[in-house]
Amino acid sequence: MRISVIGSGYVGLVAATCFAEIGHDVLCVDNDREKIAILDQGGSLIHEDCLQELLSRHHHSRLVFSTSVEDAVRESQAIFITVGTPSASNGAADLSYVESVARTIAKCAEGYKVVVEKSTVPVYTSEWIERAMIQNGRHAGEFDVVSNPEFLREGTAVTDFLYPDRIVVGAKTKRAACVMREIYAPLIDGSYAEQSSAVPPPEGARSVPLYLQTCPQSAELIKHASNAFLALKISFINAVANICESVGADIAEVSEGIGSDSRIGPDFLRSGIGYGGSCFPKDVAAFRAVAQDFGCEFPLLDEVRKINEEQRQRFLSKVKAALWTLKGKRLAVLGLAFKGGTDDIRESPAIEIVKSLLEQGCKVTAFDPAAMDRAVEVLADSVTFANDVYTAAEGAEALLILTDWKEFANLDLQRLRKALKYPIILDGRNLYKLSDMEKAGFNYYSIGRRPLEVSHSFLRNSRVIAG
Ligand code: UGA
Repeated sequence: MRISVIGSGYVGLVAATCFAEIGHDVLCVDNDREKIAILDQGGSLIHEDCLQELLSRHHHSRLVFSTSVEDAVRESQAIFITVGTPSASNGAADLSYVESVARTIAKCAEGYKVVVEKSTVPVYTSEWIERAMIQNGRHAGEFDVVSNPEFLREGTAVTDFLYPDRIVVGAKTKRAACVMREIYAPLIDGSYAEQSSAVPPPEGARSVPLYLQTCPQSAELIKHASNAFLALKISFINAVANICESVGADIAEVSEGIGSDSRIGPDFLRSGIGYGGSCFPKDVAAFRAVAQDFGCEFPLLDEVRKINEEQRQRFLSKVKAALWTLKGKRLAVLGLAFKGGTDDIRESPAIEIVKSLLEQGCKVTAFDPAAMDRAVEVLADSVTFANDVYTAAEGAEALLILTDWKEFANLDLQRLRKALKYPIILDGRNLYKLSDMEKAGFNYYSIGRRPLEVSHSFLRNSRVIAG
């Protein structure tokens, strides 16, 4: 089928590339000429597993980039809207880009079109798109609006798209529902996975996804409610972690105990410095605003956000408690991205913590395997960037782990100990077992577990003693 995807951000670029991968002819559009020029030259704008490989595979054949929404609309049967829905000042989603695209589609559409909202939007957005289309010259029956939320995680977006748990389609007519089924057919019937060139499925992937056909409002709510529930799980476990610290329990044991109940499940029960990224903070606020708009208070969501913000402050207090004073202290920071596996620093707890430490007079040397180019844009020269973990640690008075990169979970602890001025680690992601840190002789502070404090005579490193 000929499909266009309007908006080449995270969701748009991944969706466009994966639609091409499952056999469709795709036109991916953005009004940012610079972005389109980079994509058209075979470059990628985001750090995402398998994406570059698929872009190279389909670029100039089934996948074409353009700045013309008009061409895209004229040539396609289904038009996916994947433009940004940033937060307005009251937390509600700003839908002006969605509206503007809907108007353009209305003005240049010829023949029947399915307009698919894939951006994360509040309930009733599909109704508004429909109204905007009619106000701008389309007649009922010439088009349908469908809600088809996306559940991609950054870092695993390509395999999340190709091997989803569920595909949710909120459609009001049979005609639109049939078009959507046809688009997703290779995933629904498992035929994509059987192709020899298919991207291999991740461990534990479903052989075929649940295909859930709903009314548009349900589809829209499923997306907001899913993200809000995942954020709630994280805030819940972080609150439990804080209790663990007070009573001397261990959050690793508690999480395992809770998560092994199949009704709860083990995922999203990792405690740390709180959730970040372009989705959870924005979507929790937007869902809260939507509920309020419809007369439903949802104070639980305020608590979710509050616990999340306090989690960073608690970590900063731990740094202070471990180091006594902060002014002038040189700290090594591992991780700037909002989570491991991505170069995205939007709403990153790591960046917020680094900014607070700088405000309190610390000198920070940071390393991140992928996010340093982006971090320079917000931290500029207030931070020294190192080329690897051990260079960052050299001479630092403590090491802070702020992002759960896999690479940070298997460090050479003896080498690290030699590089640091004092053997002090503050781990905001609980990447290490207490027993390993104890054996390696570190003062180790993590989340929801007892602090490890070797006696003060051991606190000085051998190099300090030698010096
Ligand atoms: C999230 C959802 O997981 C996707 O399903 C959804 O499609 C996406 O938002 C979106 O709306 O576009 P993403 O933001 O890429 O995906 O990242 P997650 O893996 O969900 O992590 C979000 C944050 O929660 C990160 O800061 C991560 O470090 C933190 N987290 C996650 C925890 O602190 N603990 C956990 O147990 C899991």
